[in-house]
Amino acid sequence: MSARDALQADELRAALTRHLVAEGSIRDERVAAAFRTVPRHLFVPQAPLHRAYADDVVLMKRNDAGVAISSVSQPSIVALMLGQAAIQPGDRVLEIGSGGYNAALMRELTGPTGSVTTVDIDPEVTDRARAVLADAGYDDVRVVRADGEFGVPAGAPYDLIVVTVTAWDIAPAWMDQLRIGGRIVVPLRLRGQTRSIAFDRVADHLDSRSTTLCGFVSMQGAGANYERIVPIAKDEVYVGFDEDQESEAHPYDGVLDEPRGQVWSGVVMNREEPLLDLNLWLAATLPGYCVLFADQSVQTVAPSPRWGAAAMATRDSVAYLTSCPARRRPASFVELGVNGHGPDARELMRRMVDQVQIWDAHHRHGPGPTFQVYSKGAAVPDGFRIERRHGCFRISWPG
Ligand SMILES: C[S@@+](CC[C@H](N)C(=O)[O-])C[C@H]1O[C@@H](n2cnc3c(N)ncnc32)[C@H](O)[C@@H]1O
Repeated sequence: MSARDALQADELRAALTRHLVAEGSIRDERVAAAFRTVPRHLFVPQAPLHRAYADDVVLMKRNDAGVAISSVSQPSIVALMLGQAAIQPGDRVLEIGSGGYNAALMRELTGPTGSVTTVDIDPEVTDRARAVLADAGYDDVRVVRADGEFGVPAGAPYDLIVVTVTAWDIAPAWMDQLRIGGRIVVPLRLRGQTRSIAFDRVADHLDSRSTTLCGFVSMQGAGANYERIVPIAKDEVYVGFDEDQESEAHPYDGVLDEPRGQVWSGVVMNREEPLLDLNLWLAATLPGYCVLFADQSVQTVAPSPRWGAAAMATRDSVAYLTSCPARRRPASFVELGVNGHGPDARELMRRMVDQVQIWDAHHRHGPGPTFQVYSKGAAVPDGFRIERRHGCFRISWPG
């Protein structure tokens, strides 16, 4: 690299760090210092400098079907997760899913008395990570090729486990290899939404400390999971259920041809307000909860829920969240409502609207849900639960 390019890389890195601080993704001066130090361009050598220092994911690999399976993560997500992890000097950290960049940042944060081990299932990824880490001066990061579902027992116990691939469950090995009092930060997919959740290990279970919206490529190997995606209209509208919702009925393909009913809730919000917590509340309170997806071009559902709308289904009916411009409010405000099709639509719409109003009155302005994870067979307190292969997620709302 020429001296001019090196200078430009330094300037772009400083600008990216300033941007992440200004937007609130970095809130800790030690994390900011790590971002100012680690040369991201060395971890994405195929990207031009301005791309290497944009707040954007850099895709590294797709599978034969064209699905992204490896990337160097978006700096703002990396920063938020490092904030959640709160790595201290001397910590022993395990990263699941390697790209090199995040491991180097964590190596800066652990300092000379700590350690970082990173594991990836894909030998192409580990070979590249090993090479670029050495190139950037982080050859003391241990890079392991293995299925991260089983952790890396040789380095356990860890003070921190940072998972950088979407998981559906907490693998037993992660629980075993995390010391009591240690923290795991993991992007968890629950009912069609992915949140990075920071959990502390408290004796026999994990207790959430913070959550943030995120998106990652999906886990492969023994921890891979699937979502049941069922078409309900000829023009590419689908409903999705989680693996543990095997017994939930889904409506027939064509249900959207039934006349549409509509009920408005009176709940008004800014278009930009995330629906994440509302959707989870609906998942917790409505039987037959699922997520409805439609391509942007699909006219059947209005407005088109491209990223997935909270929905509720029976064998012959479906209801799903929608919105319309709010009357007598600025253009950025919408009112939430529910559309429904099929013989049960009236009942489904009524139940959904009731829960939207309850969430608005009691939880919308509160601290949001908390999450606990218990191993199979443990005594789990009452509340909304999602049973997974290895454990049980309990989700509760203060008050
Ligand atoms: C988003 S990338 C990781 C990004 C990286 N931490 C960085 O520094 O930007 C996710 C990685 O997880 C890996 N992966 C998927 N399933 C895995 C598994 N079961 N065990 C370990 N790695 C896995 C993929 O090969 C991919 O390289």
